[in-house]
Amino acid sequence: MNPLSRRQFLKSTTASGAGLLILPTGTLFGQNRPSNKLNIALIGVWGRGLAHYDALSTENVVALCDVNELRFAEALAKFPGAKTYVDWRKCLEQKDIDAVVCCTPDHQHAHIAIWAMNRDKHVYMEKPIALTVDETRKVRALYLEKRHKLATQAGTQRHAIPNFARVREMIRDGAVGELRGVFVWGNRQLPRPGYLPAEGSPPSTLHYDLWLGPSPEHPYNPGYFSGRAGANCLQWNMYWDFGTGQVGDMGNHTMDLAWNAIDATYPEAVEAQGDPFNPEVTPVKLVAHFEHPANDWRPAIRVSWYQGKEFPTSPKKYIDLDGIGHGAIFKGSKGVLVSDFNTRMLIPDAGADLTDYKIRSKDRVIPPIGNFQEEWINACKGSLKTSCNFDYNGLMTEQMALGLVAYRAGKKLKYDGKTGRTDDAAANALLSRSYRAGWPLDG
Ligand SMILES: NC(=O)c1ccc[n+]([C@@H]2O[C@H](COP(=O)([O-])OP(=O)(O)OC[C@H]3O[C@@H](n4cnc5c(N)ncnc54)[C@H](O)[C@@H]3O)[C@@H](O)[C@H]2O)c1
Repeated sequence: MNPLSRRQFLKSTTASGAGLLILPTGTLFGQNRPSNKLNIALIGVWGRGLAHYDALSTENVVALCDVNELRFAEALAKFPGAKTYVDWRKCLEQKDIDAVVCCTPDHQHAHIAIWAMNRDKHVYMEKPIALTVDETRKVRALYLEKRHKLATQAGTQRHAIPNFARVREMIRDGAVGELRGVFVWGNRQLPRPGYLPAEGSPPSTLHYDLWLGPSPEHPYNPGYFSGRAGANCLQWNMYWDFGTGQVGDMGNHTMDLAWNAIDATYPEAVEAQGDPFNPEVTPVKLVAHFEHPANDWRPAIRVSWYQGKEFPTSPKKYIDLDGIGHGAIFKGSKGVLVSDFNTRMLIPDAGADLTDYKIRSKDRVIPPIGNFQEEWINACKGSLKTSCNFDYNGLMTEQMALGLVAYRAGKKLKYDGKTGRTDDAAANALLSRSYRAGWPLDG
């Protein structure tokens, strides 16, 4: 069967009946028979890539791509028979790939997402799905165009923690009364003076120029590669050409806790302050405020992001926001909900009797997501439904990227979500970035 008709077959048969595949011959196949497995390319096989090995081992991993050839041995031991690549542009030409899991550094995410979707591959993209406002909009727009045939998931796996759903239920059901404002914070600090200076030359097994990819040239320094597995992103994600600092790092997880509960789209205005601007390094301290219009169940609200040991005001002296680390506060007309990823605390205002609020019975709660990676794998096989697709996560990532634009512009900006433009020409120049020759965004 050619790759395209095999994929169509996979999708139509899986969608049609509770995990049973019926071949044209009439033979029945169970959910995990070889014919019902996805052919997956894993791009970025070490670090965060390792966290996907178990989920991917139920499928056929047919391609492994990494700029560091030393990472292939471990990956091939887990996925023998996969073809290896050092350049994801070549990897994506392999014809039998159904779906792509991408765990590369952030500055290649939008490119890989767009190139993969252009080739009709399902995509699981580690967060953040893009660096700039313009990139997030293009990734989201392409997904929306192809949503009837492609499944996408942004790698905010904490979303599957049941607390996320409980927080949403409480906000929607009026536990704090009418929602008035949301405050989200993360206390991680990774101060750096600037890009690392030139030091030595890359080993022959590391394709440093491919690591730079679309970003401008910076001299090699082993420091960019010196972190432990799954945390090496903390060696490069604070530099403007490689990441968005805490906005795209913990911010993508923590804002998700709020985003999941507020049904927001585009902010209409944004302002932000932080550390003095450094053209090489994103700010450690940042406070960004986003004004969101009313929707059909809540009034207009301000959503605020605090990072680098900037905090909103704690609703009670005994609640230590720094001690919580990463969390969200929902302020309403009758009280406050304080939440971290796993737990929540409702503080009704003095005198609020909570008689209007009823906790949901078991049969009315939002169904559990289960395993987050598996949700995407099942979506690729037919349902196309994921909880953090590029529509949902794209809007959130766009908002956060816009916060950095307002910070750099140094003034309050109006924002038009329809056009993706602000009311300031200088700020509009910061909505996108340019790429090195050979690395078009839409390839
Ligand atoms: N969801 C989470 O909880 C979570 C946790 C950690 C990291 N992440 C995300 O995962 C991504 C990777 O982070 P990391 O700490 O593993 O980084 P890393 O620097 O360790 O890179 C991961 C792997 O990608 C490879 N790589 C780098 N550039 C590549 C390219 N152009 N093509 C192919 N492979 C390439 C590296 O050699 C490495 O093997 C980041 O986007 C980060 O934000 C997510």
